[in-house]
Amino acid sequence: MDPTRRLFLVKGSLGIAAASTGLLVLRSGEGPTEASGELAAYGEYFPARESAARFSLPGDTKPTETNIQGPYYRAGAPFRAKITPPLEPGTVLLIKGRVWGHDTRRPLDGAVLDIWQANASGRYDNHDDDRAVDPTLFANRGRLVTDDTGYYEFESVRPGNYEFLPGRTRPAHIHYWVRHPQYMDLVTQLYFKGDPHASGDPFIRASLVVEPQQVRTPGGAYELATFDVVLAPK
Ligand SMILES: [Fe+2]
Repeated sequence: MDPTRRLFLVKGSLGIAAASTGLLVLRSGEGPTEASGELAAYGEYFPARESAARFSLPGDTKPTETNIQGPYYRAGAPFRAKITPPLEPGTVLLIKGRVWGHDTRRPLDGAVLDIWQANASGRYDNHDDDRAVDPTLFANRGRLVTDDTGYYEFESVRPGNYEFLPGRTRPAHIHYWVRHPQYMDLVTQLYFKGDPHASGDPFIRASLVVEPQQVRTPGGAYELATFDVVLAPK
């Protein structure tokens, strides 16, 4: 069975933005997806899962600082671990980290991270003079859920700078909106060390700046940065 045919919209569009659950119907006659075989046979190849108990936050760590949401958020981005469209121009960037509870100093399982950013030219997909807004696409946006060790990871490209007022350019940043049922929502931004527009920016905070490392692979080079998030309890 072709898995791309399994789920479709009654009215024909496969657009993500149209995917209100009320419009989604499984084709009649579809059976459950076939299992591939006995998973137990592969058990010896899977390493033991990491235990959340081995991770703890240093005692003096404070909750992550908040930062402005800005005007370009769009609700409903798909859950995925690569937020850029295929072949998006720019320097490939991998961000990884953990979400923590400030009270327990333990990783938070099931935190939702809503991520959005400008492309390498400093344009958001809902504010781009060169490209009409396509409501079915969420370019450079995505949501992620942390695992039982609080871990998250996504692939993107290094965002570009953009002018937010005439003559005022923002340092490159990635927006985060992090939610967990037992913790305060956190809206913040990740920034990059050495950005020429950092000085004088009214919003940047030193605690939100990461320093990406260059990673070389046989396929090319990319940037890697770690950004942990600490949530304050409700
Ligand atoms: Fe922004």
